[in-house]
Amino acid sequence: MQKLLIVEDDASVRSTMVTVLELEGYAVEAVSSTREAISLLEAHPYPIVISDIYLDDRTGIDILKMARLHNPDGAVILMSGRGSMETVMAATSGGAFDYLAKPFEMSQMIDTIKRAEKSFTGEEDEDEAQSIDDLPDTEMIGSSPRMVDIYKQISKVAPTDATVLIEGETGTGKDLIARMIHRNSKRAAQPFVPVDCGAIAPSLLESELFGTLKGAYTGADRDRMGVFEAANNGTVFLDEIGDIEFGFQLKLLRFMQEREIRPLGSPRARKVDVRVVAATNRDMQKMVDEQKFREDLWYRLNVVRISVPPLCERSSDIPLLVQYFLTRYNGRYSLDTKLTESGLKAMEQYSWPGNIRQLQHMMERLTILAPGGRIDQAAVRYAIEQMDSRDSASESLADTETEQIRRVLAATNGNKSKAAKILGIERKTLYRKLERMGL
Ligand SMILES: Nc1ncnc2c1ncn2[C@@H]1O[C@H](COP(=O)(O)OP(=O)(O)OP(=O)(O)O)[C@@H](O)[C@H]1O
Ligand SMILES: [Mg+2]
Repeated sequence: MQKLLIVEDDASVRSTMVTVLELEGYAVEAVSSTREAISLLEAHPYPIVISDIYLDDRTGIDILKMARLHNPDGAVILMSGRGSMETVMAATSGGAFDYLAKPFEMSQMIDTIKRAEKSFTGEEDEDEAQSIDDLPDTEMIGSSPRMVDIYKQISKVAPTDATVLIEGETGTGKDLIARMIHRNSKRAAQPFVPVDCGAIAPSLLESELFGTLKGAYTGADRDRMGVFEAANNGTVFLDEIGDIEFGFQLKLLRFMQEREIRPLGSPRARKVDVRVVAATNRDMQKMVDEQKFREDLWYRLNVVRISVPPLCERSSDIPLLVQYFLTRYNGRYSLDTKLTESGLKAMEQYSWPGNIRQLQHMMERLTILAPGGRIDQAAVRYAIEQMDSRDSASESLADTETEQIRRVLAATNGNKSKAAKILGIERKTLYRKLERMGL
């Protein structure tokens, strides 16, 4: 009979786990504090330890360390309902066997335990952990299984030099993920250089990436270093990679193969050492099928693919995100706006086609504008309606607009371009309205 130690402070989760796992035939010991857990771990080796992360004055990460210290061959499974980039990083680097996001089905837990048992008999390779000492403050919010899965992928791929392709709808956090990969890589102290391939005219992209020597063409009055050289030893983030012209894709492919640059007008090629992370919100497989994107380049980029789910597929993260943005904007604008239950519910029910970026903008707006400093159902519905109608009629702002404009200007200390952004109108439009209002 395999011995299991469970460390979980939630009595109902604990007893469910004990009941189910005993029925599965395990000898289960369950405790509710890190203190009890540590004294047990010091007394006997447990082949499998399952621990919650947030417990008391110590965490599941401490349990992980202790368990690994006393029994390096054992497996530690961590679980949390409040997982973050940092906890998953710490779990991975500390050698945790796996990390389950709560709530999970017991069948999932049993599968994980079975996999751990198999790993003891050498049927499965153990994950190679890379240690990362300086953990960043959290910027990536989300504890849903889908996000924890992304953190796992990031924590595994970041320390390698592998090329990564990040796919996902607009506003899902591709940019943030690219930065996280760099920040948790060996190249963290070296430059991270993003290039928005969609925003640079195709004719300029080559010189942007590879550089230009003086006199390469009329107007090239000095040498210009390209991105690949500027990012030497660091990471280049090729954003909107699906937007690059077919003709230029061959040049990029050669670069991916040779890791050499030849600035425009230069006879010689030079080696550079850069890691490439690319992102796209397009369906690349379809572009390849339609021959709009070179298949060979796609293979080169697609060494490791991270697919970021749209917000509607991880709506369990909405409460956390909403809280996070509310705290941020209350702080930034010195406000004390409150969110009501019905307000949160309305947000959870919305589909968020613009994903986190849209949620973030709406929270910024609502924190400033919510009537009576309360974000309730009515306020959320109203904000959503406004947002939707703005897509069709760009100048629309509601009846209460004078009041809204005043509030936003007050919050932004009169910064008009910031105010226009929050109000979702163009700056010109704001000026016109201010004129009409006699301001
Ligand atoms: N998990 C997250 N937690 C907190 N903020 C997030 C998260 N994901 C994204 N954001 C925020 O949402 C905004 C949009 O994210 P980002 O720019 O990374 O999206 P994107 O996928 O690159 O979008 P696009 O395809 O439009 O370029 C940013 O302000 C980012 O900080
Ligand atoms: Mg982006």
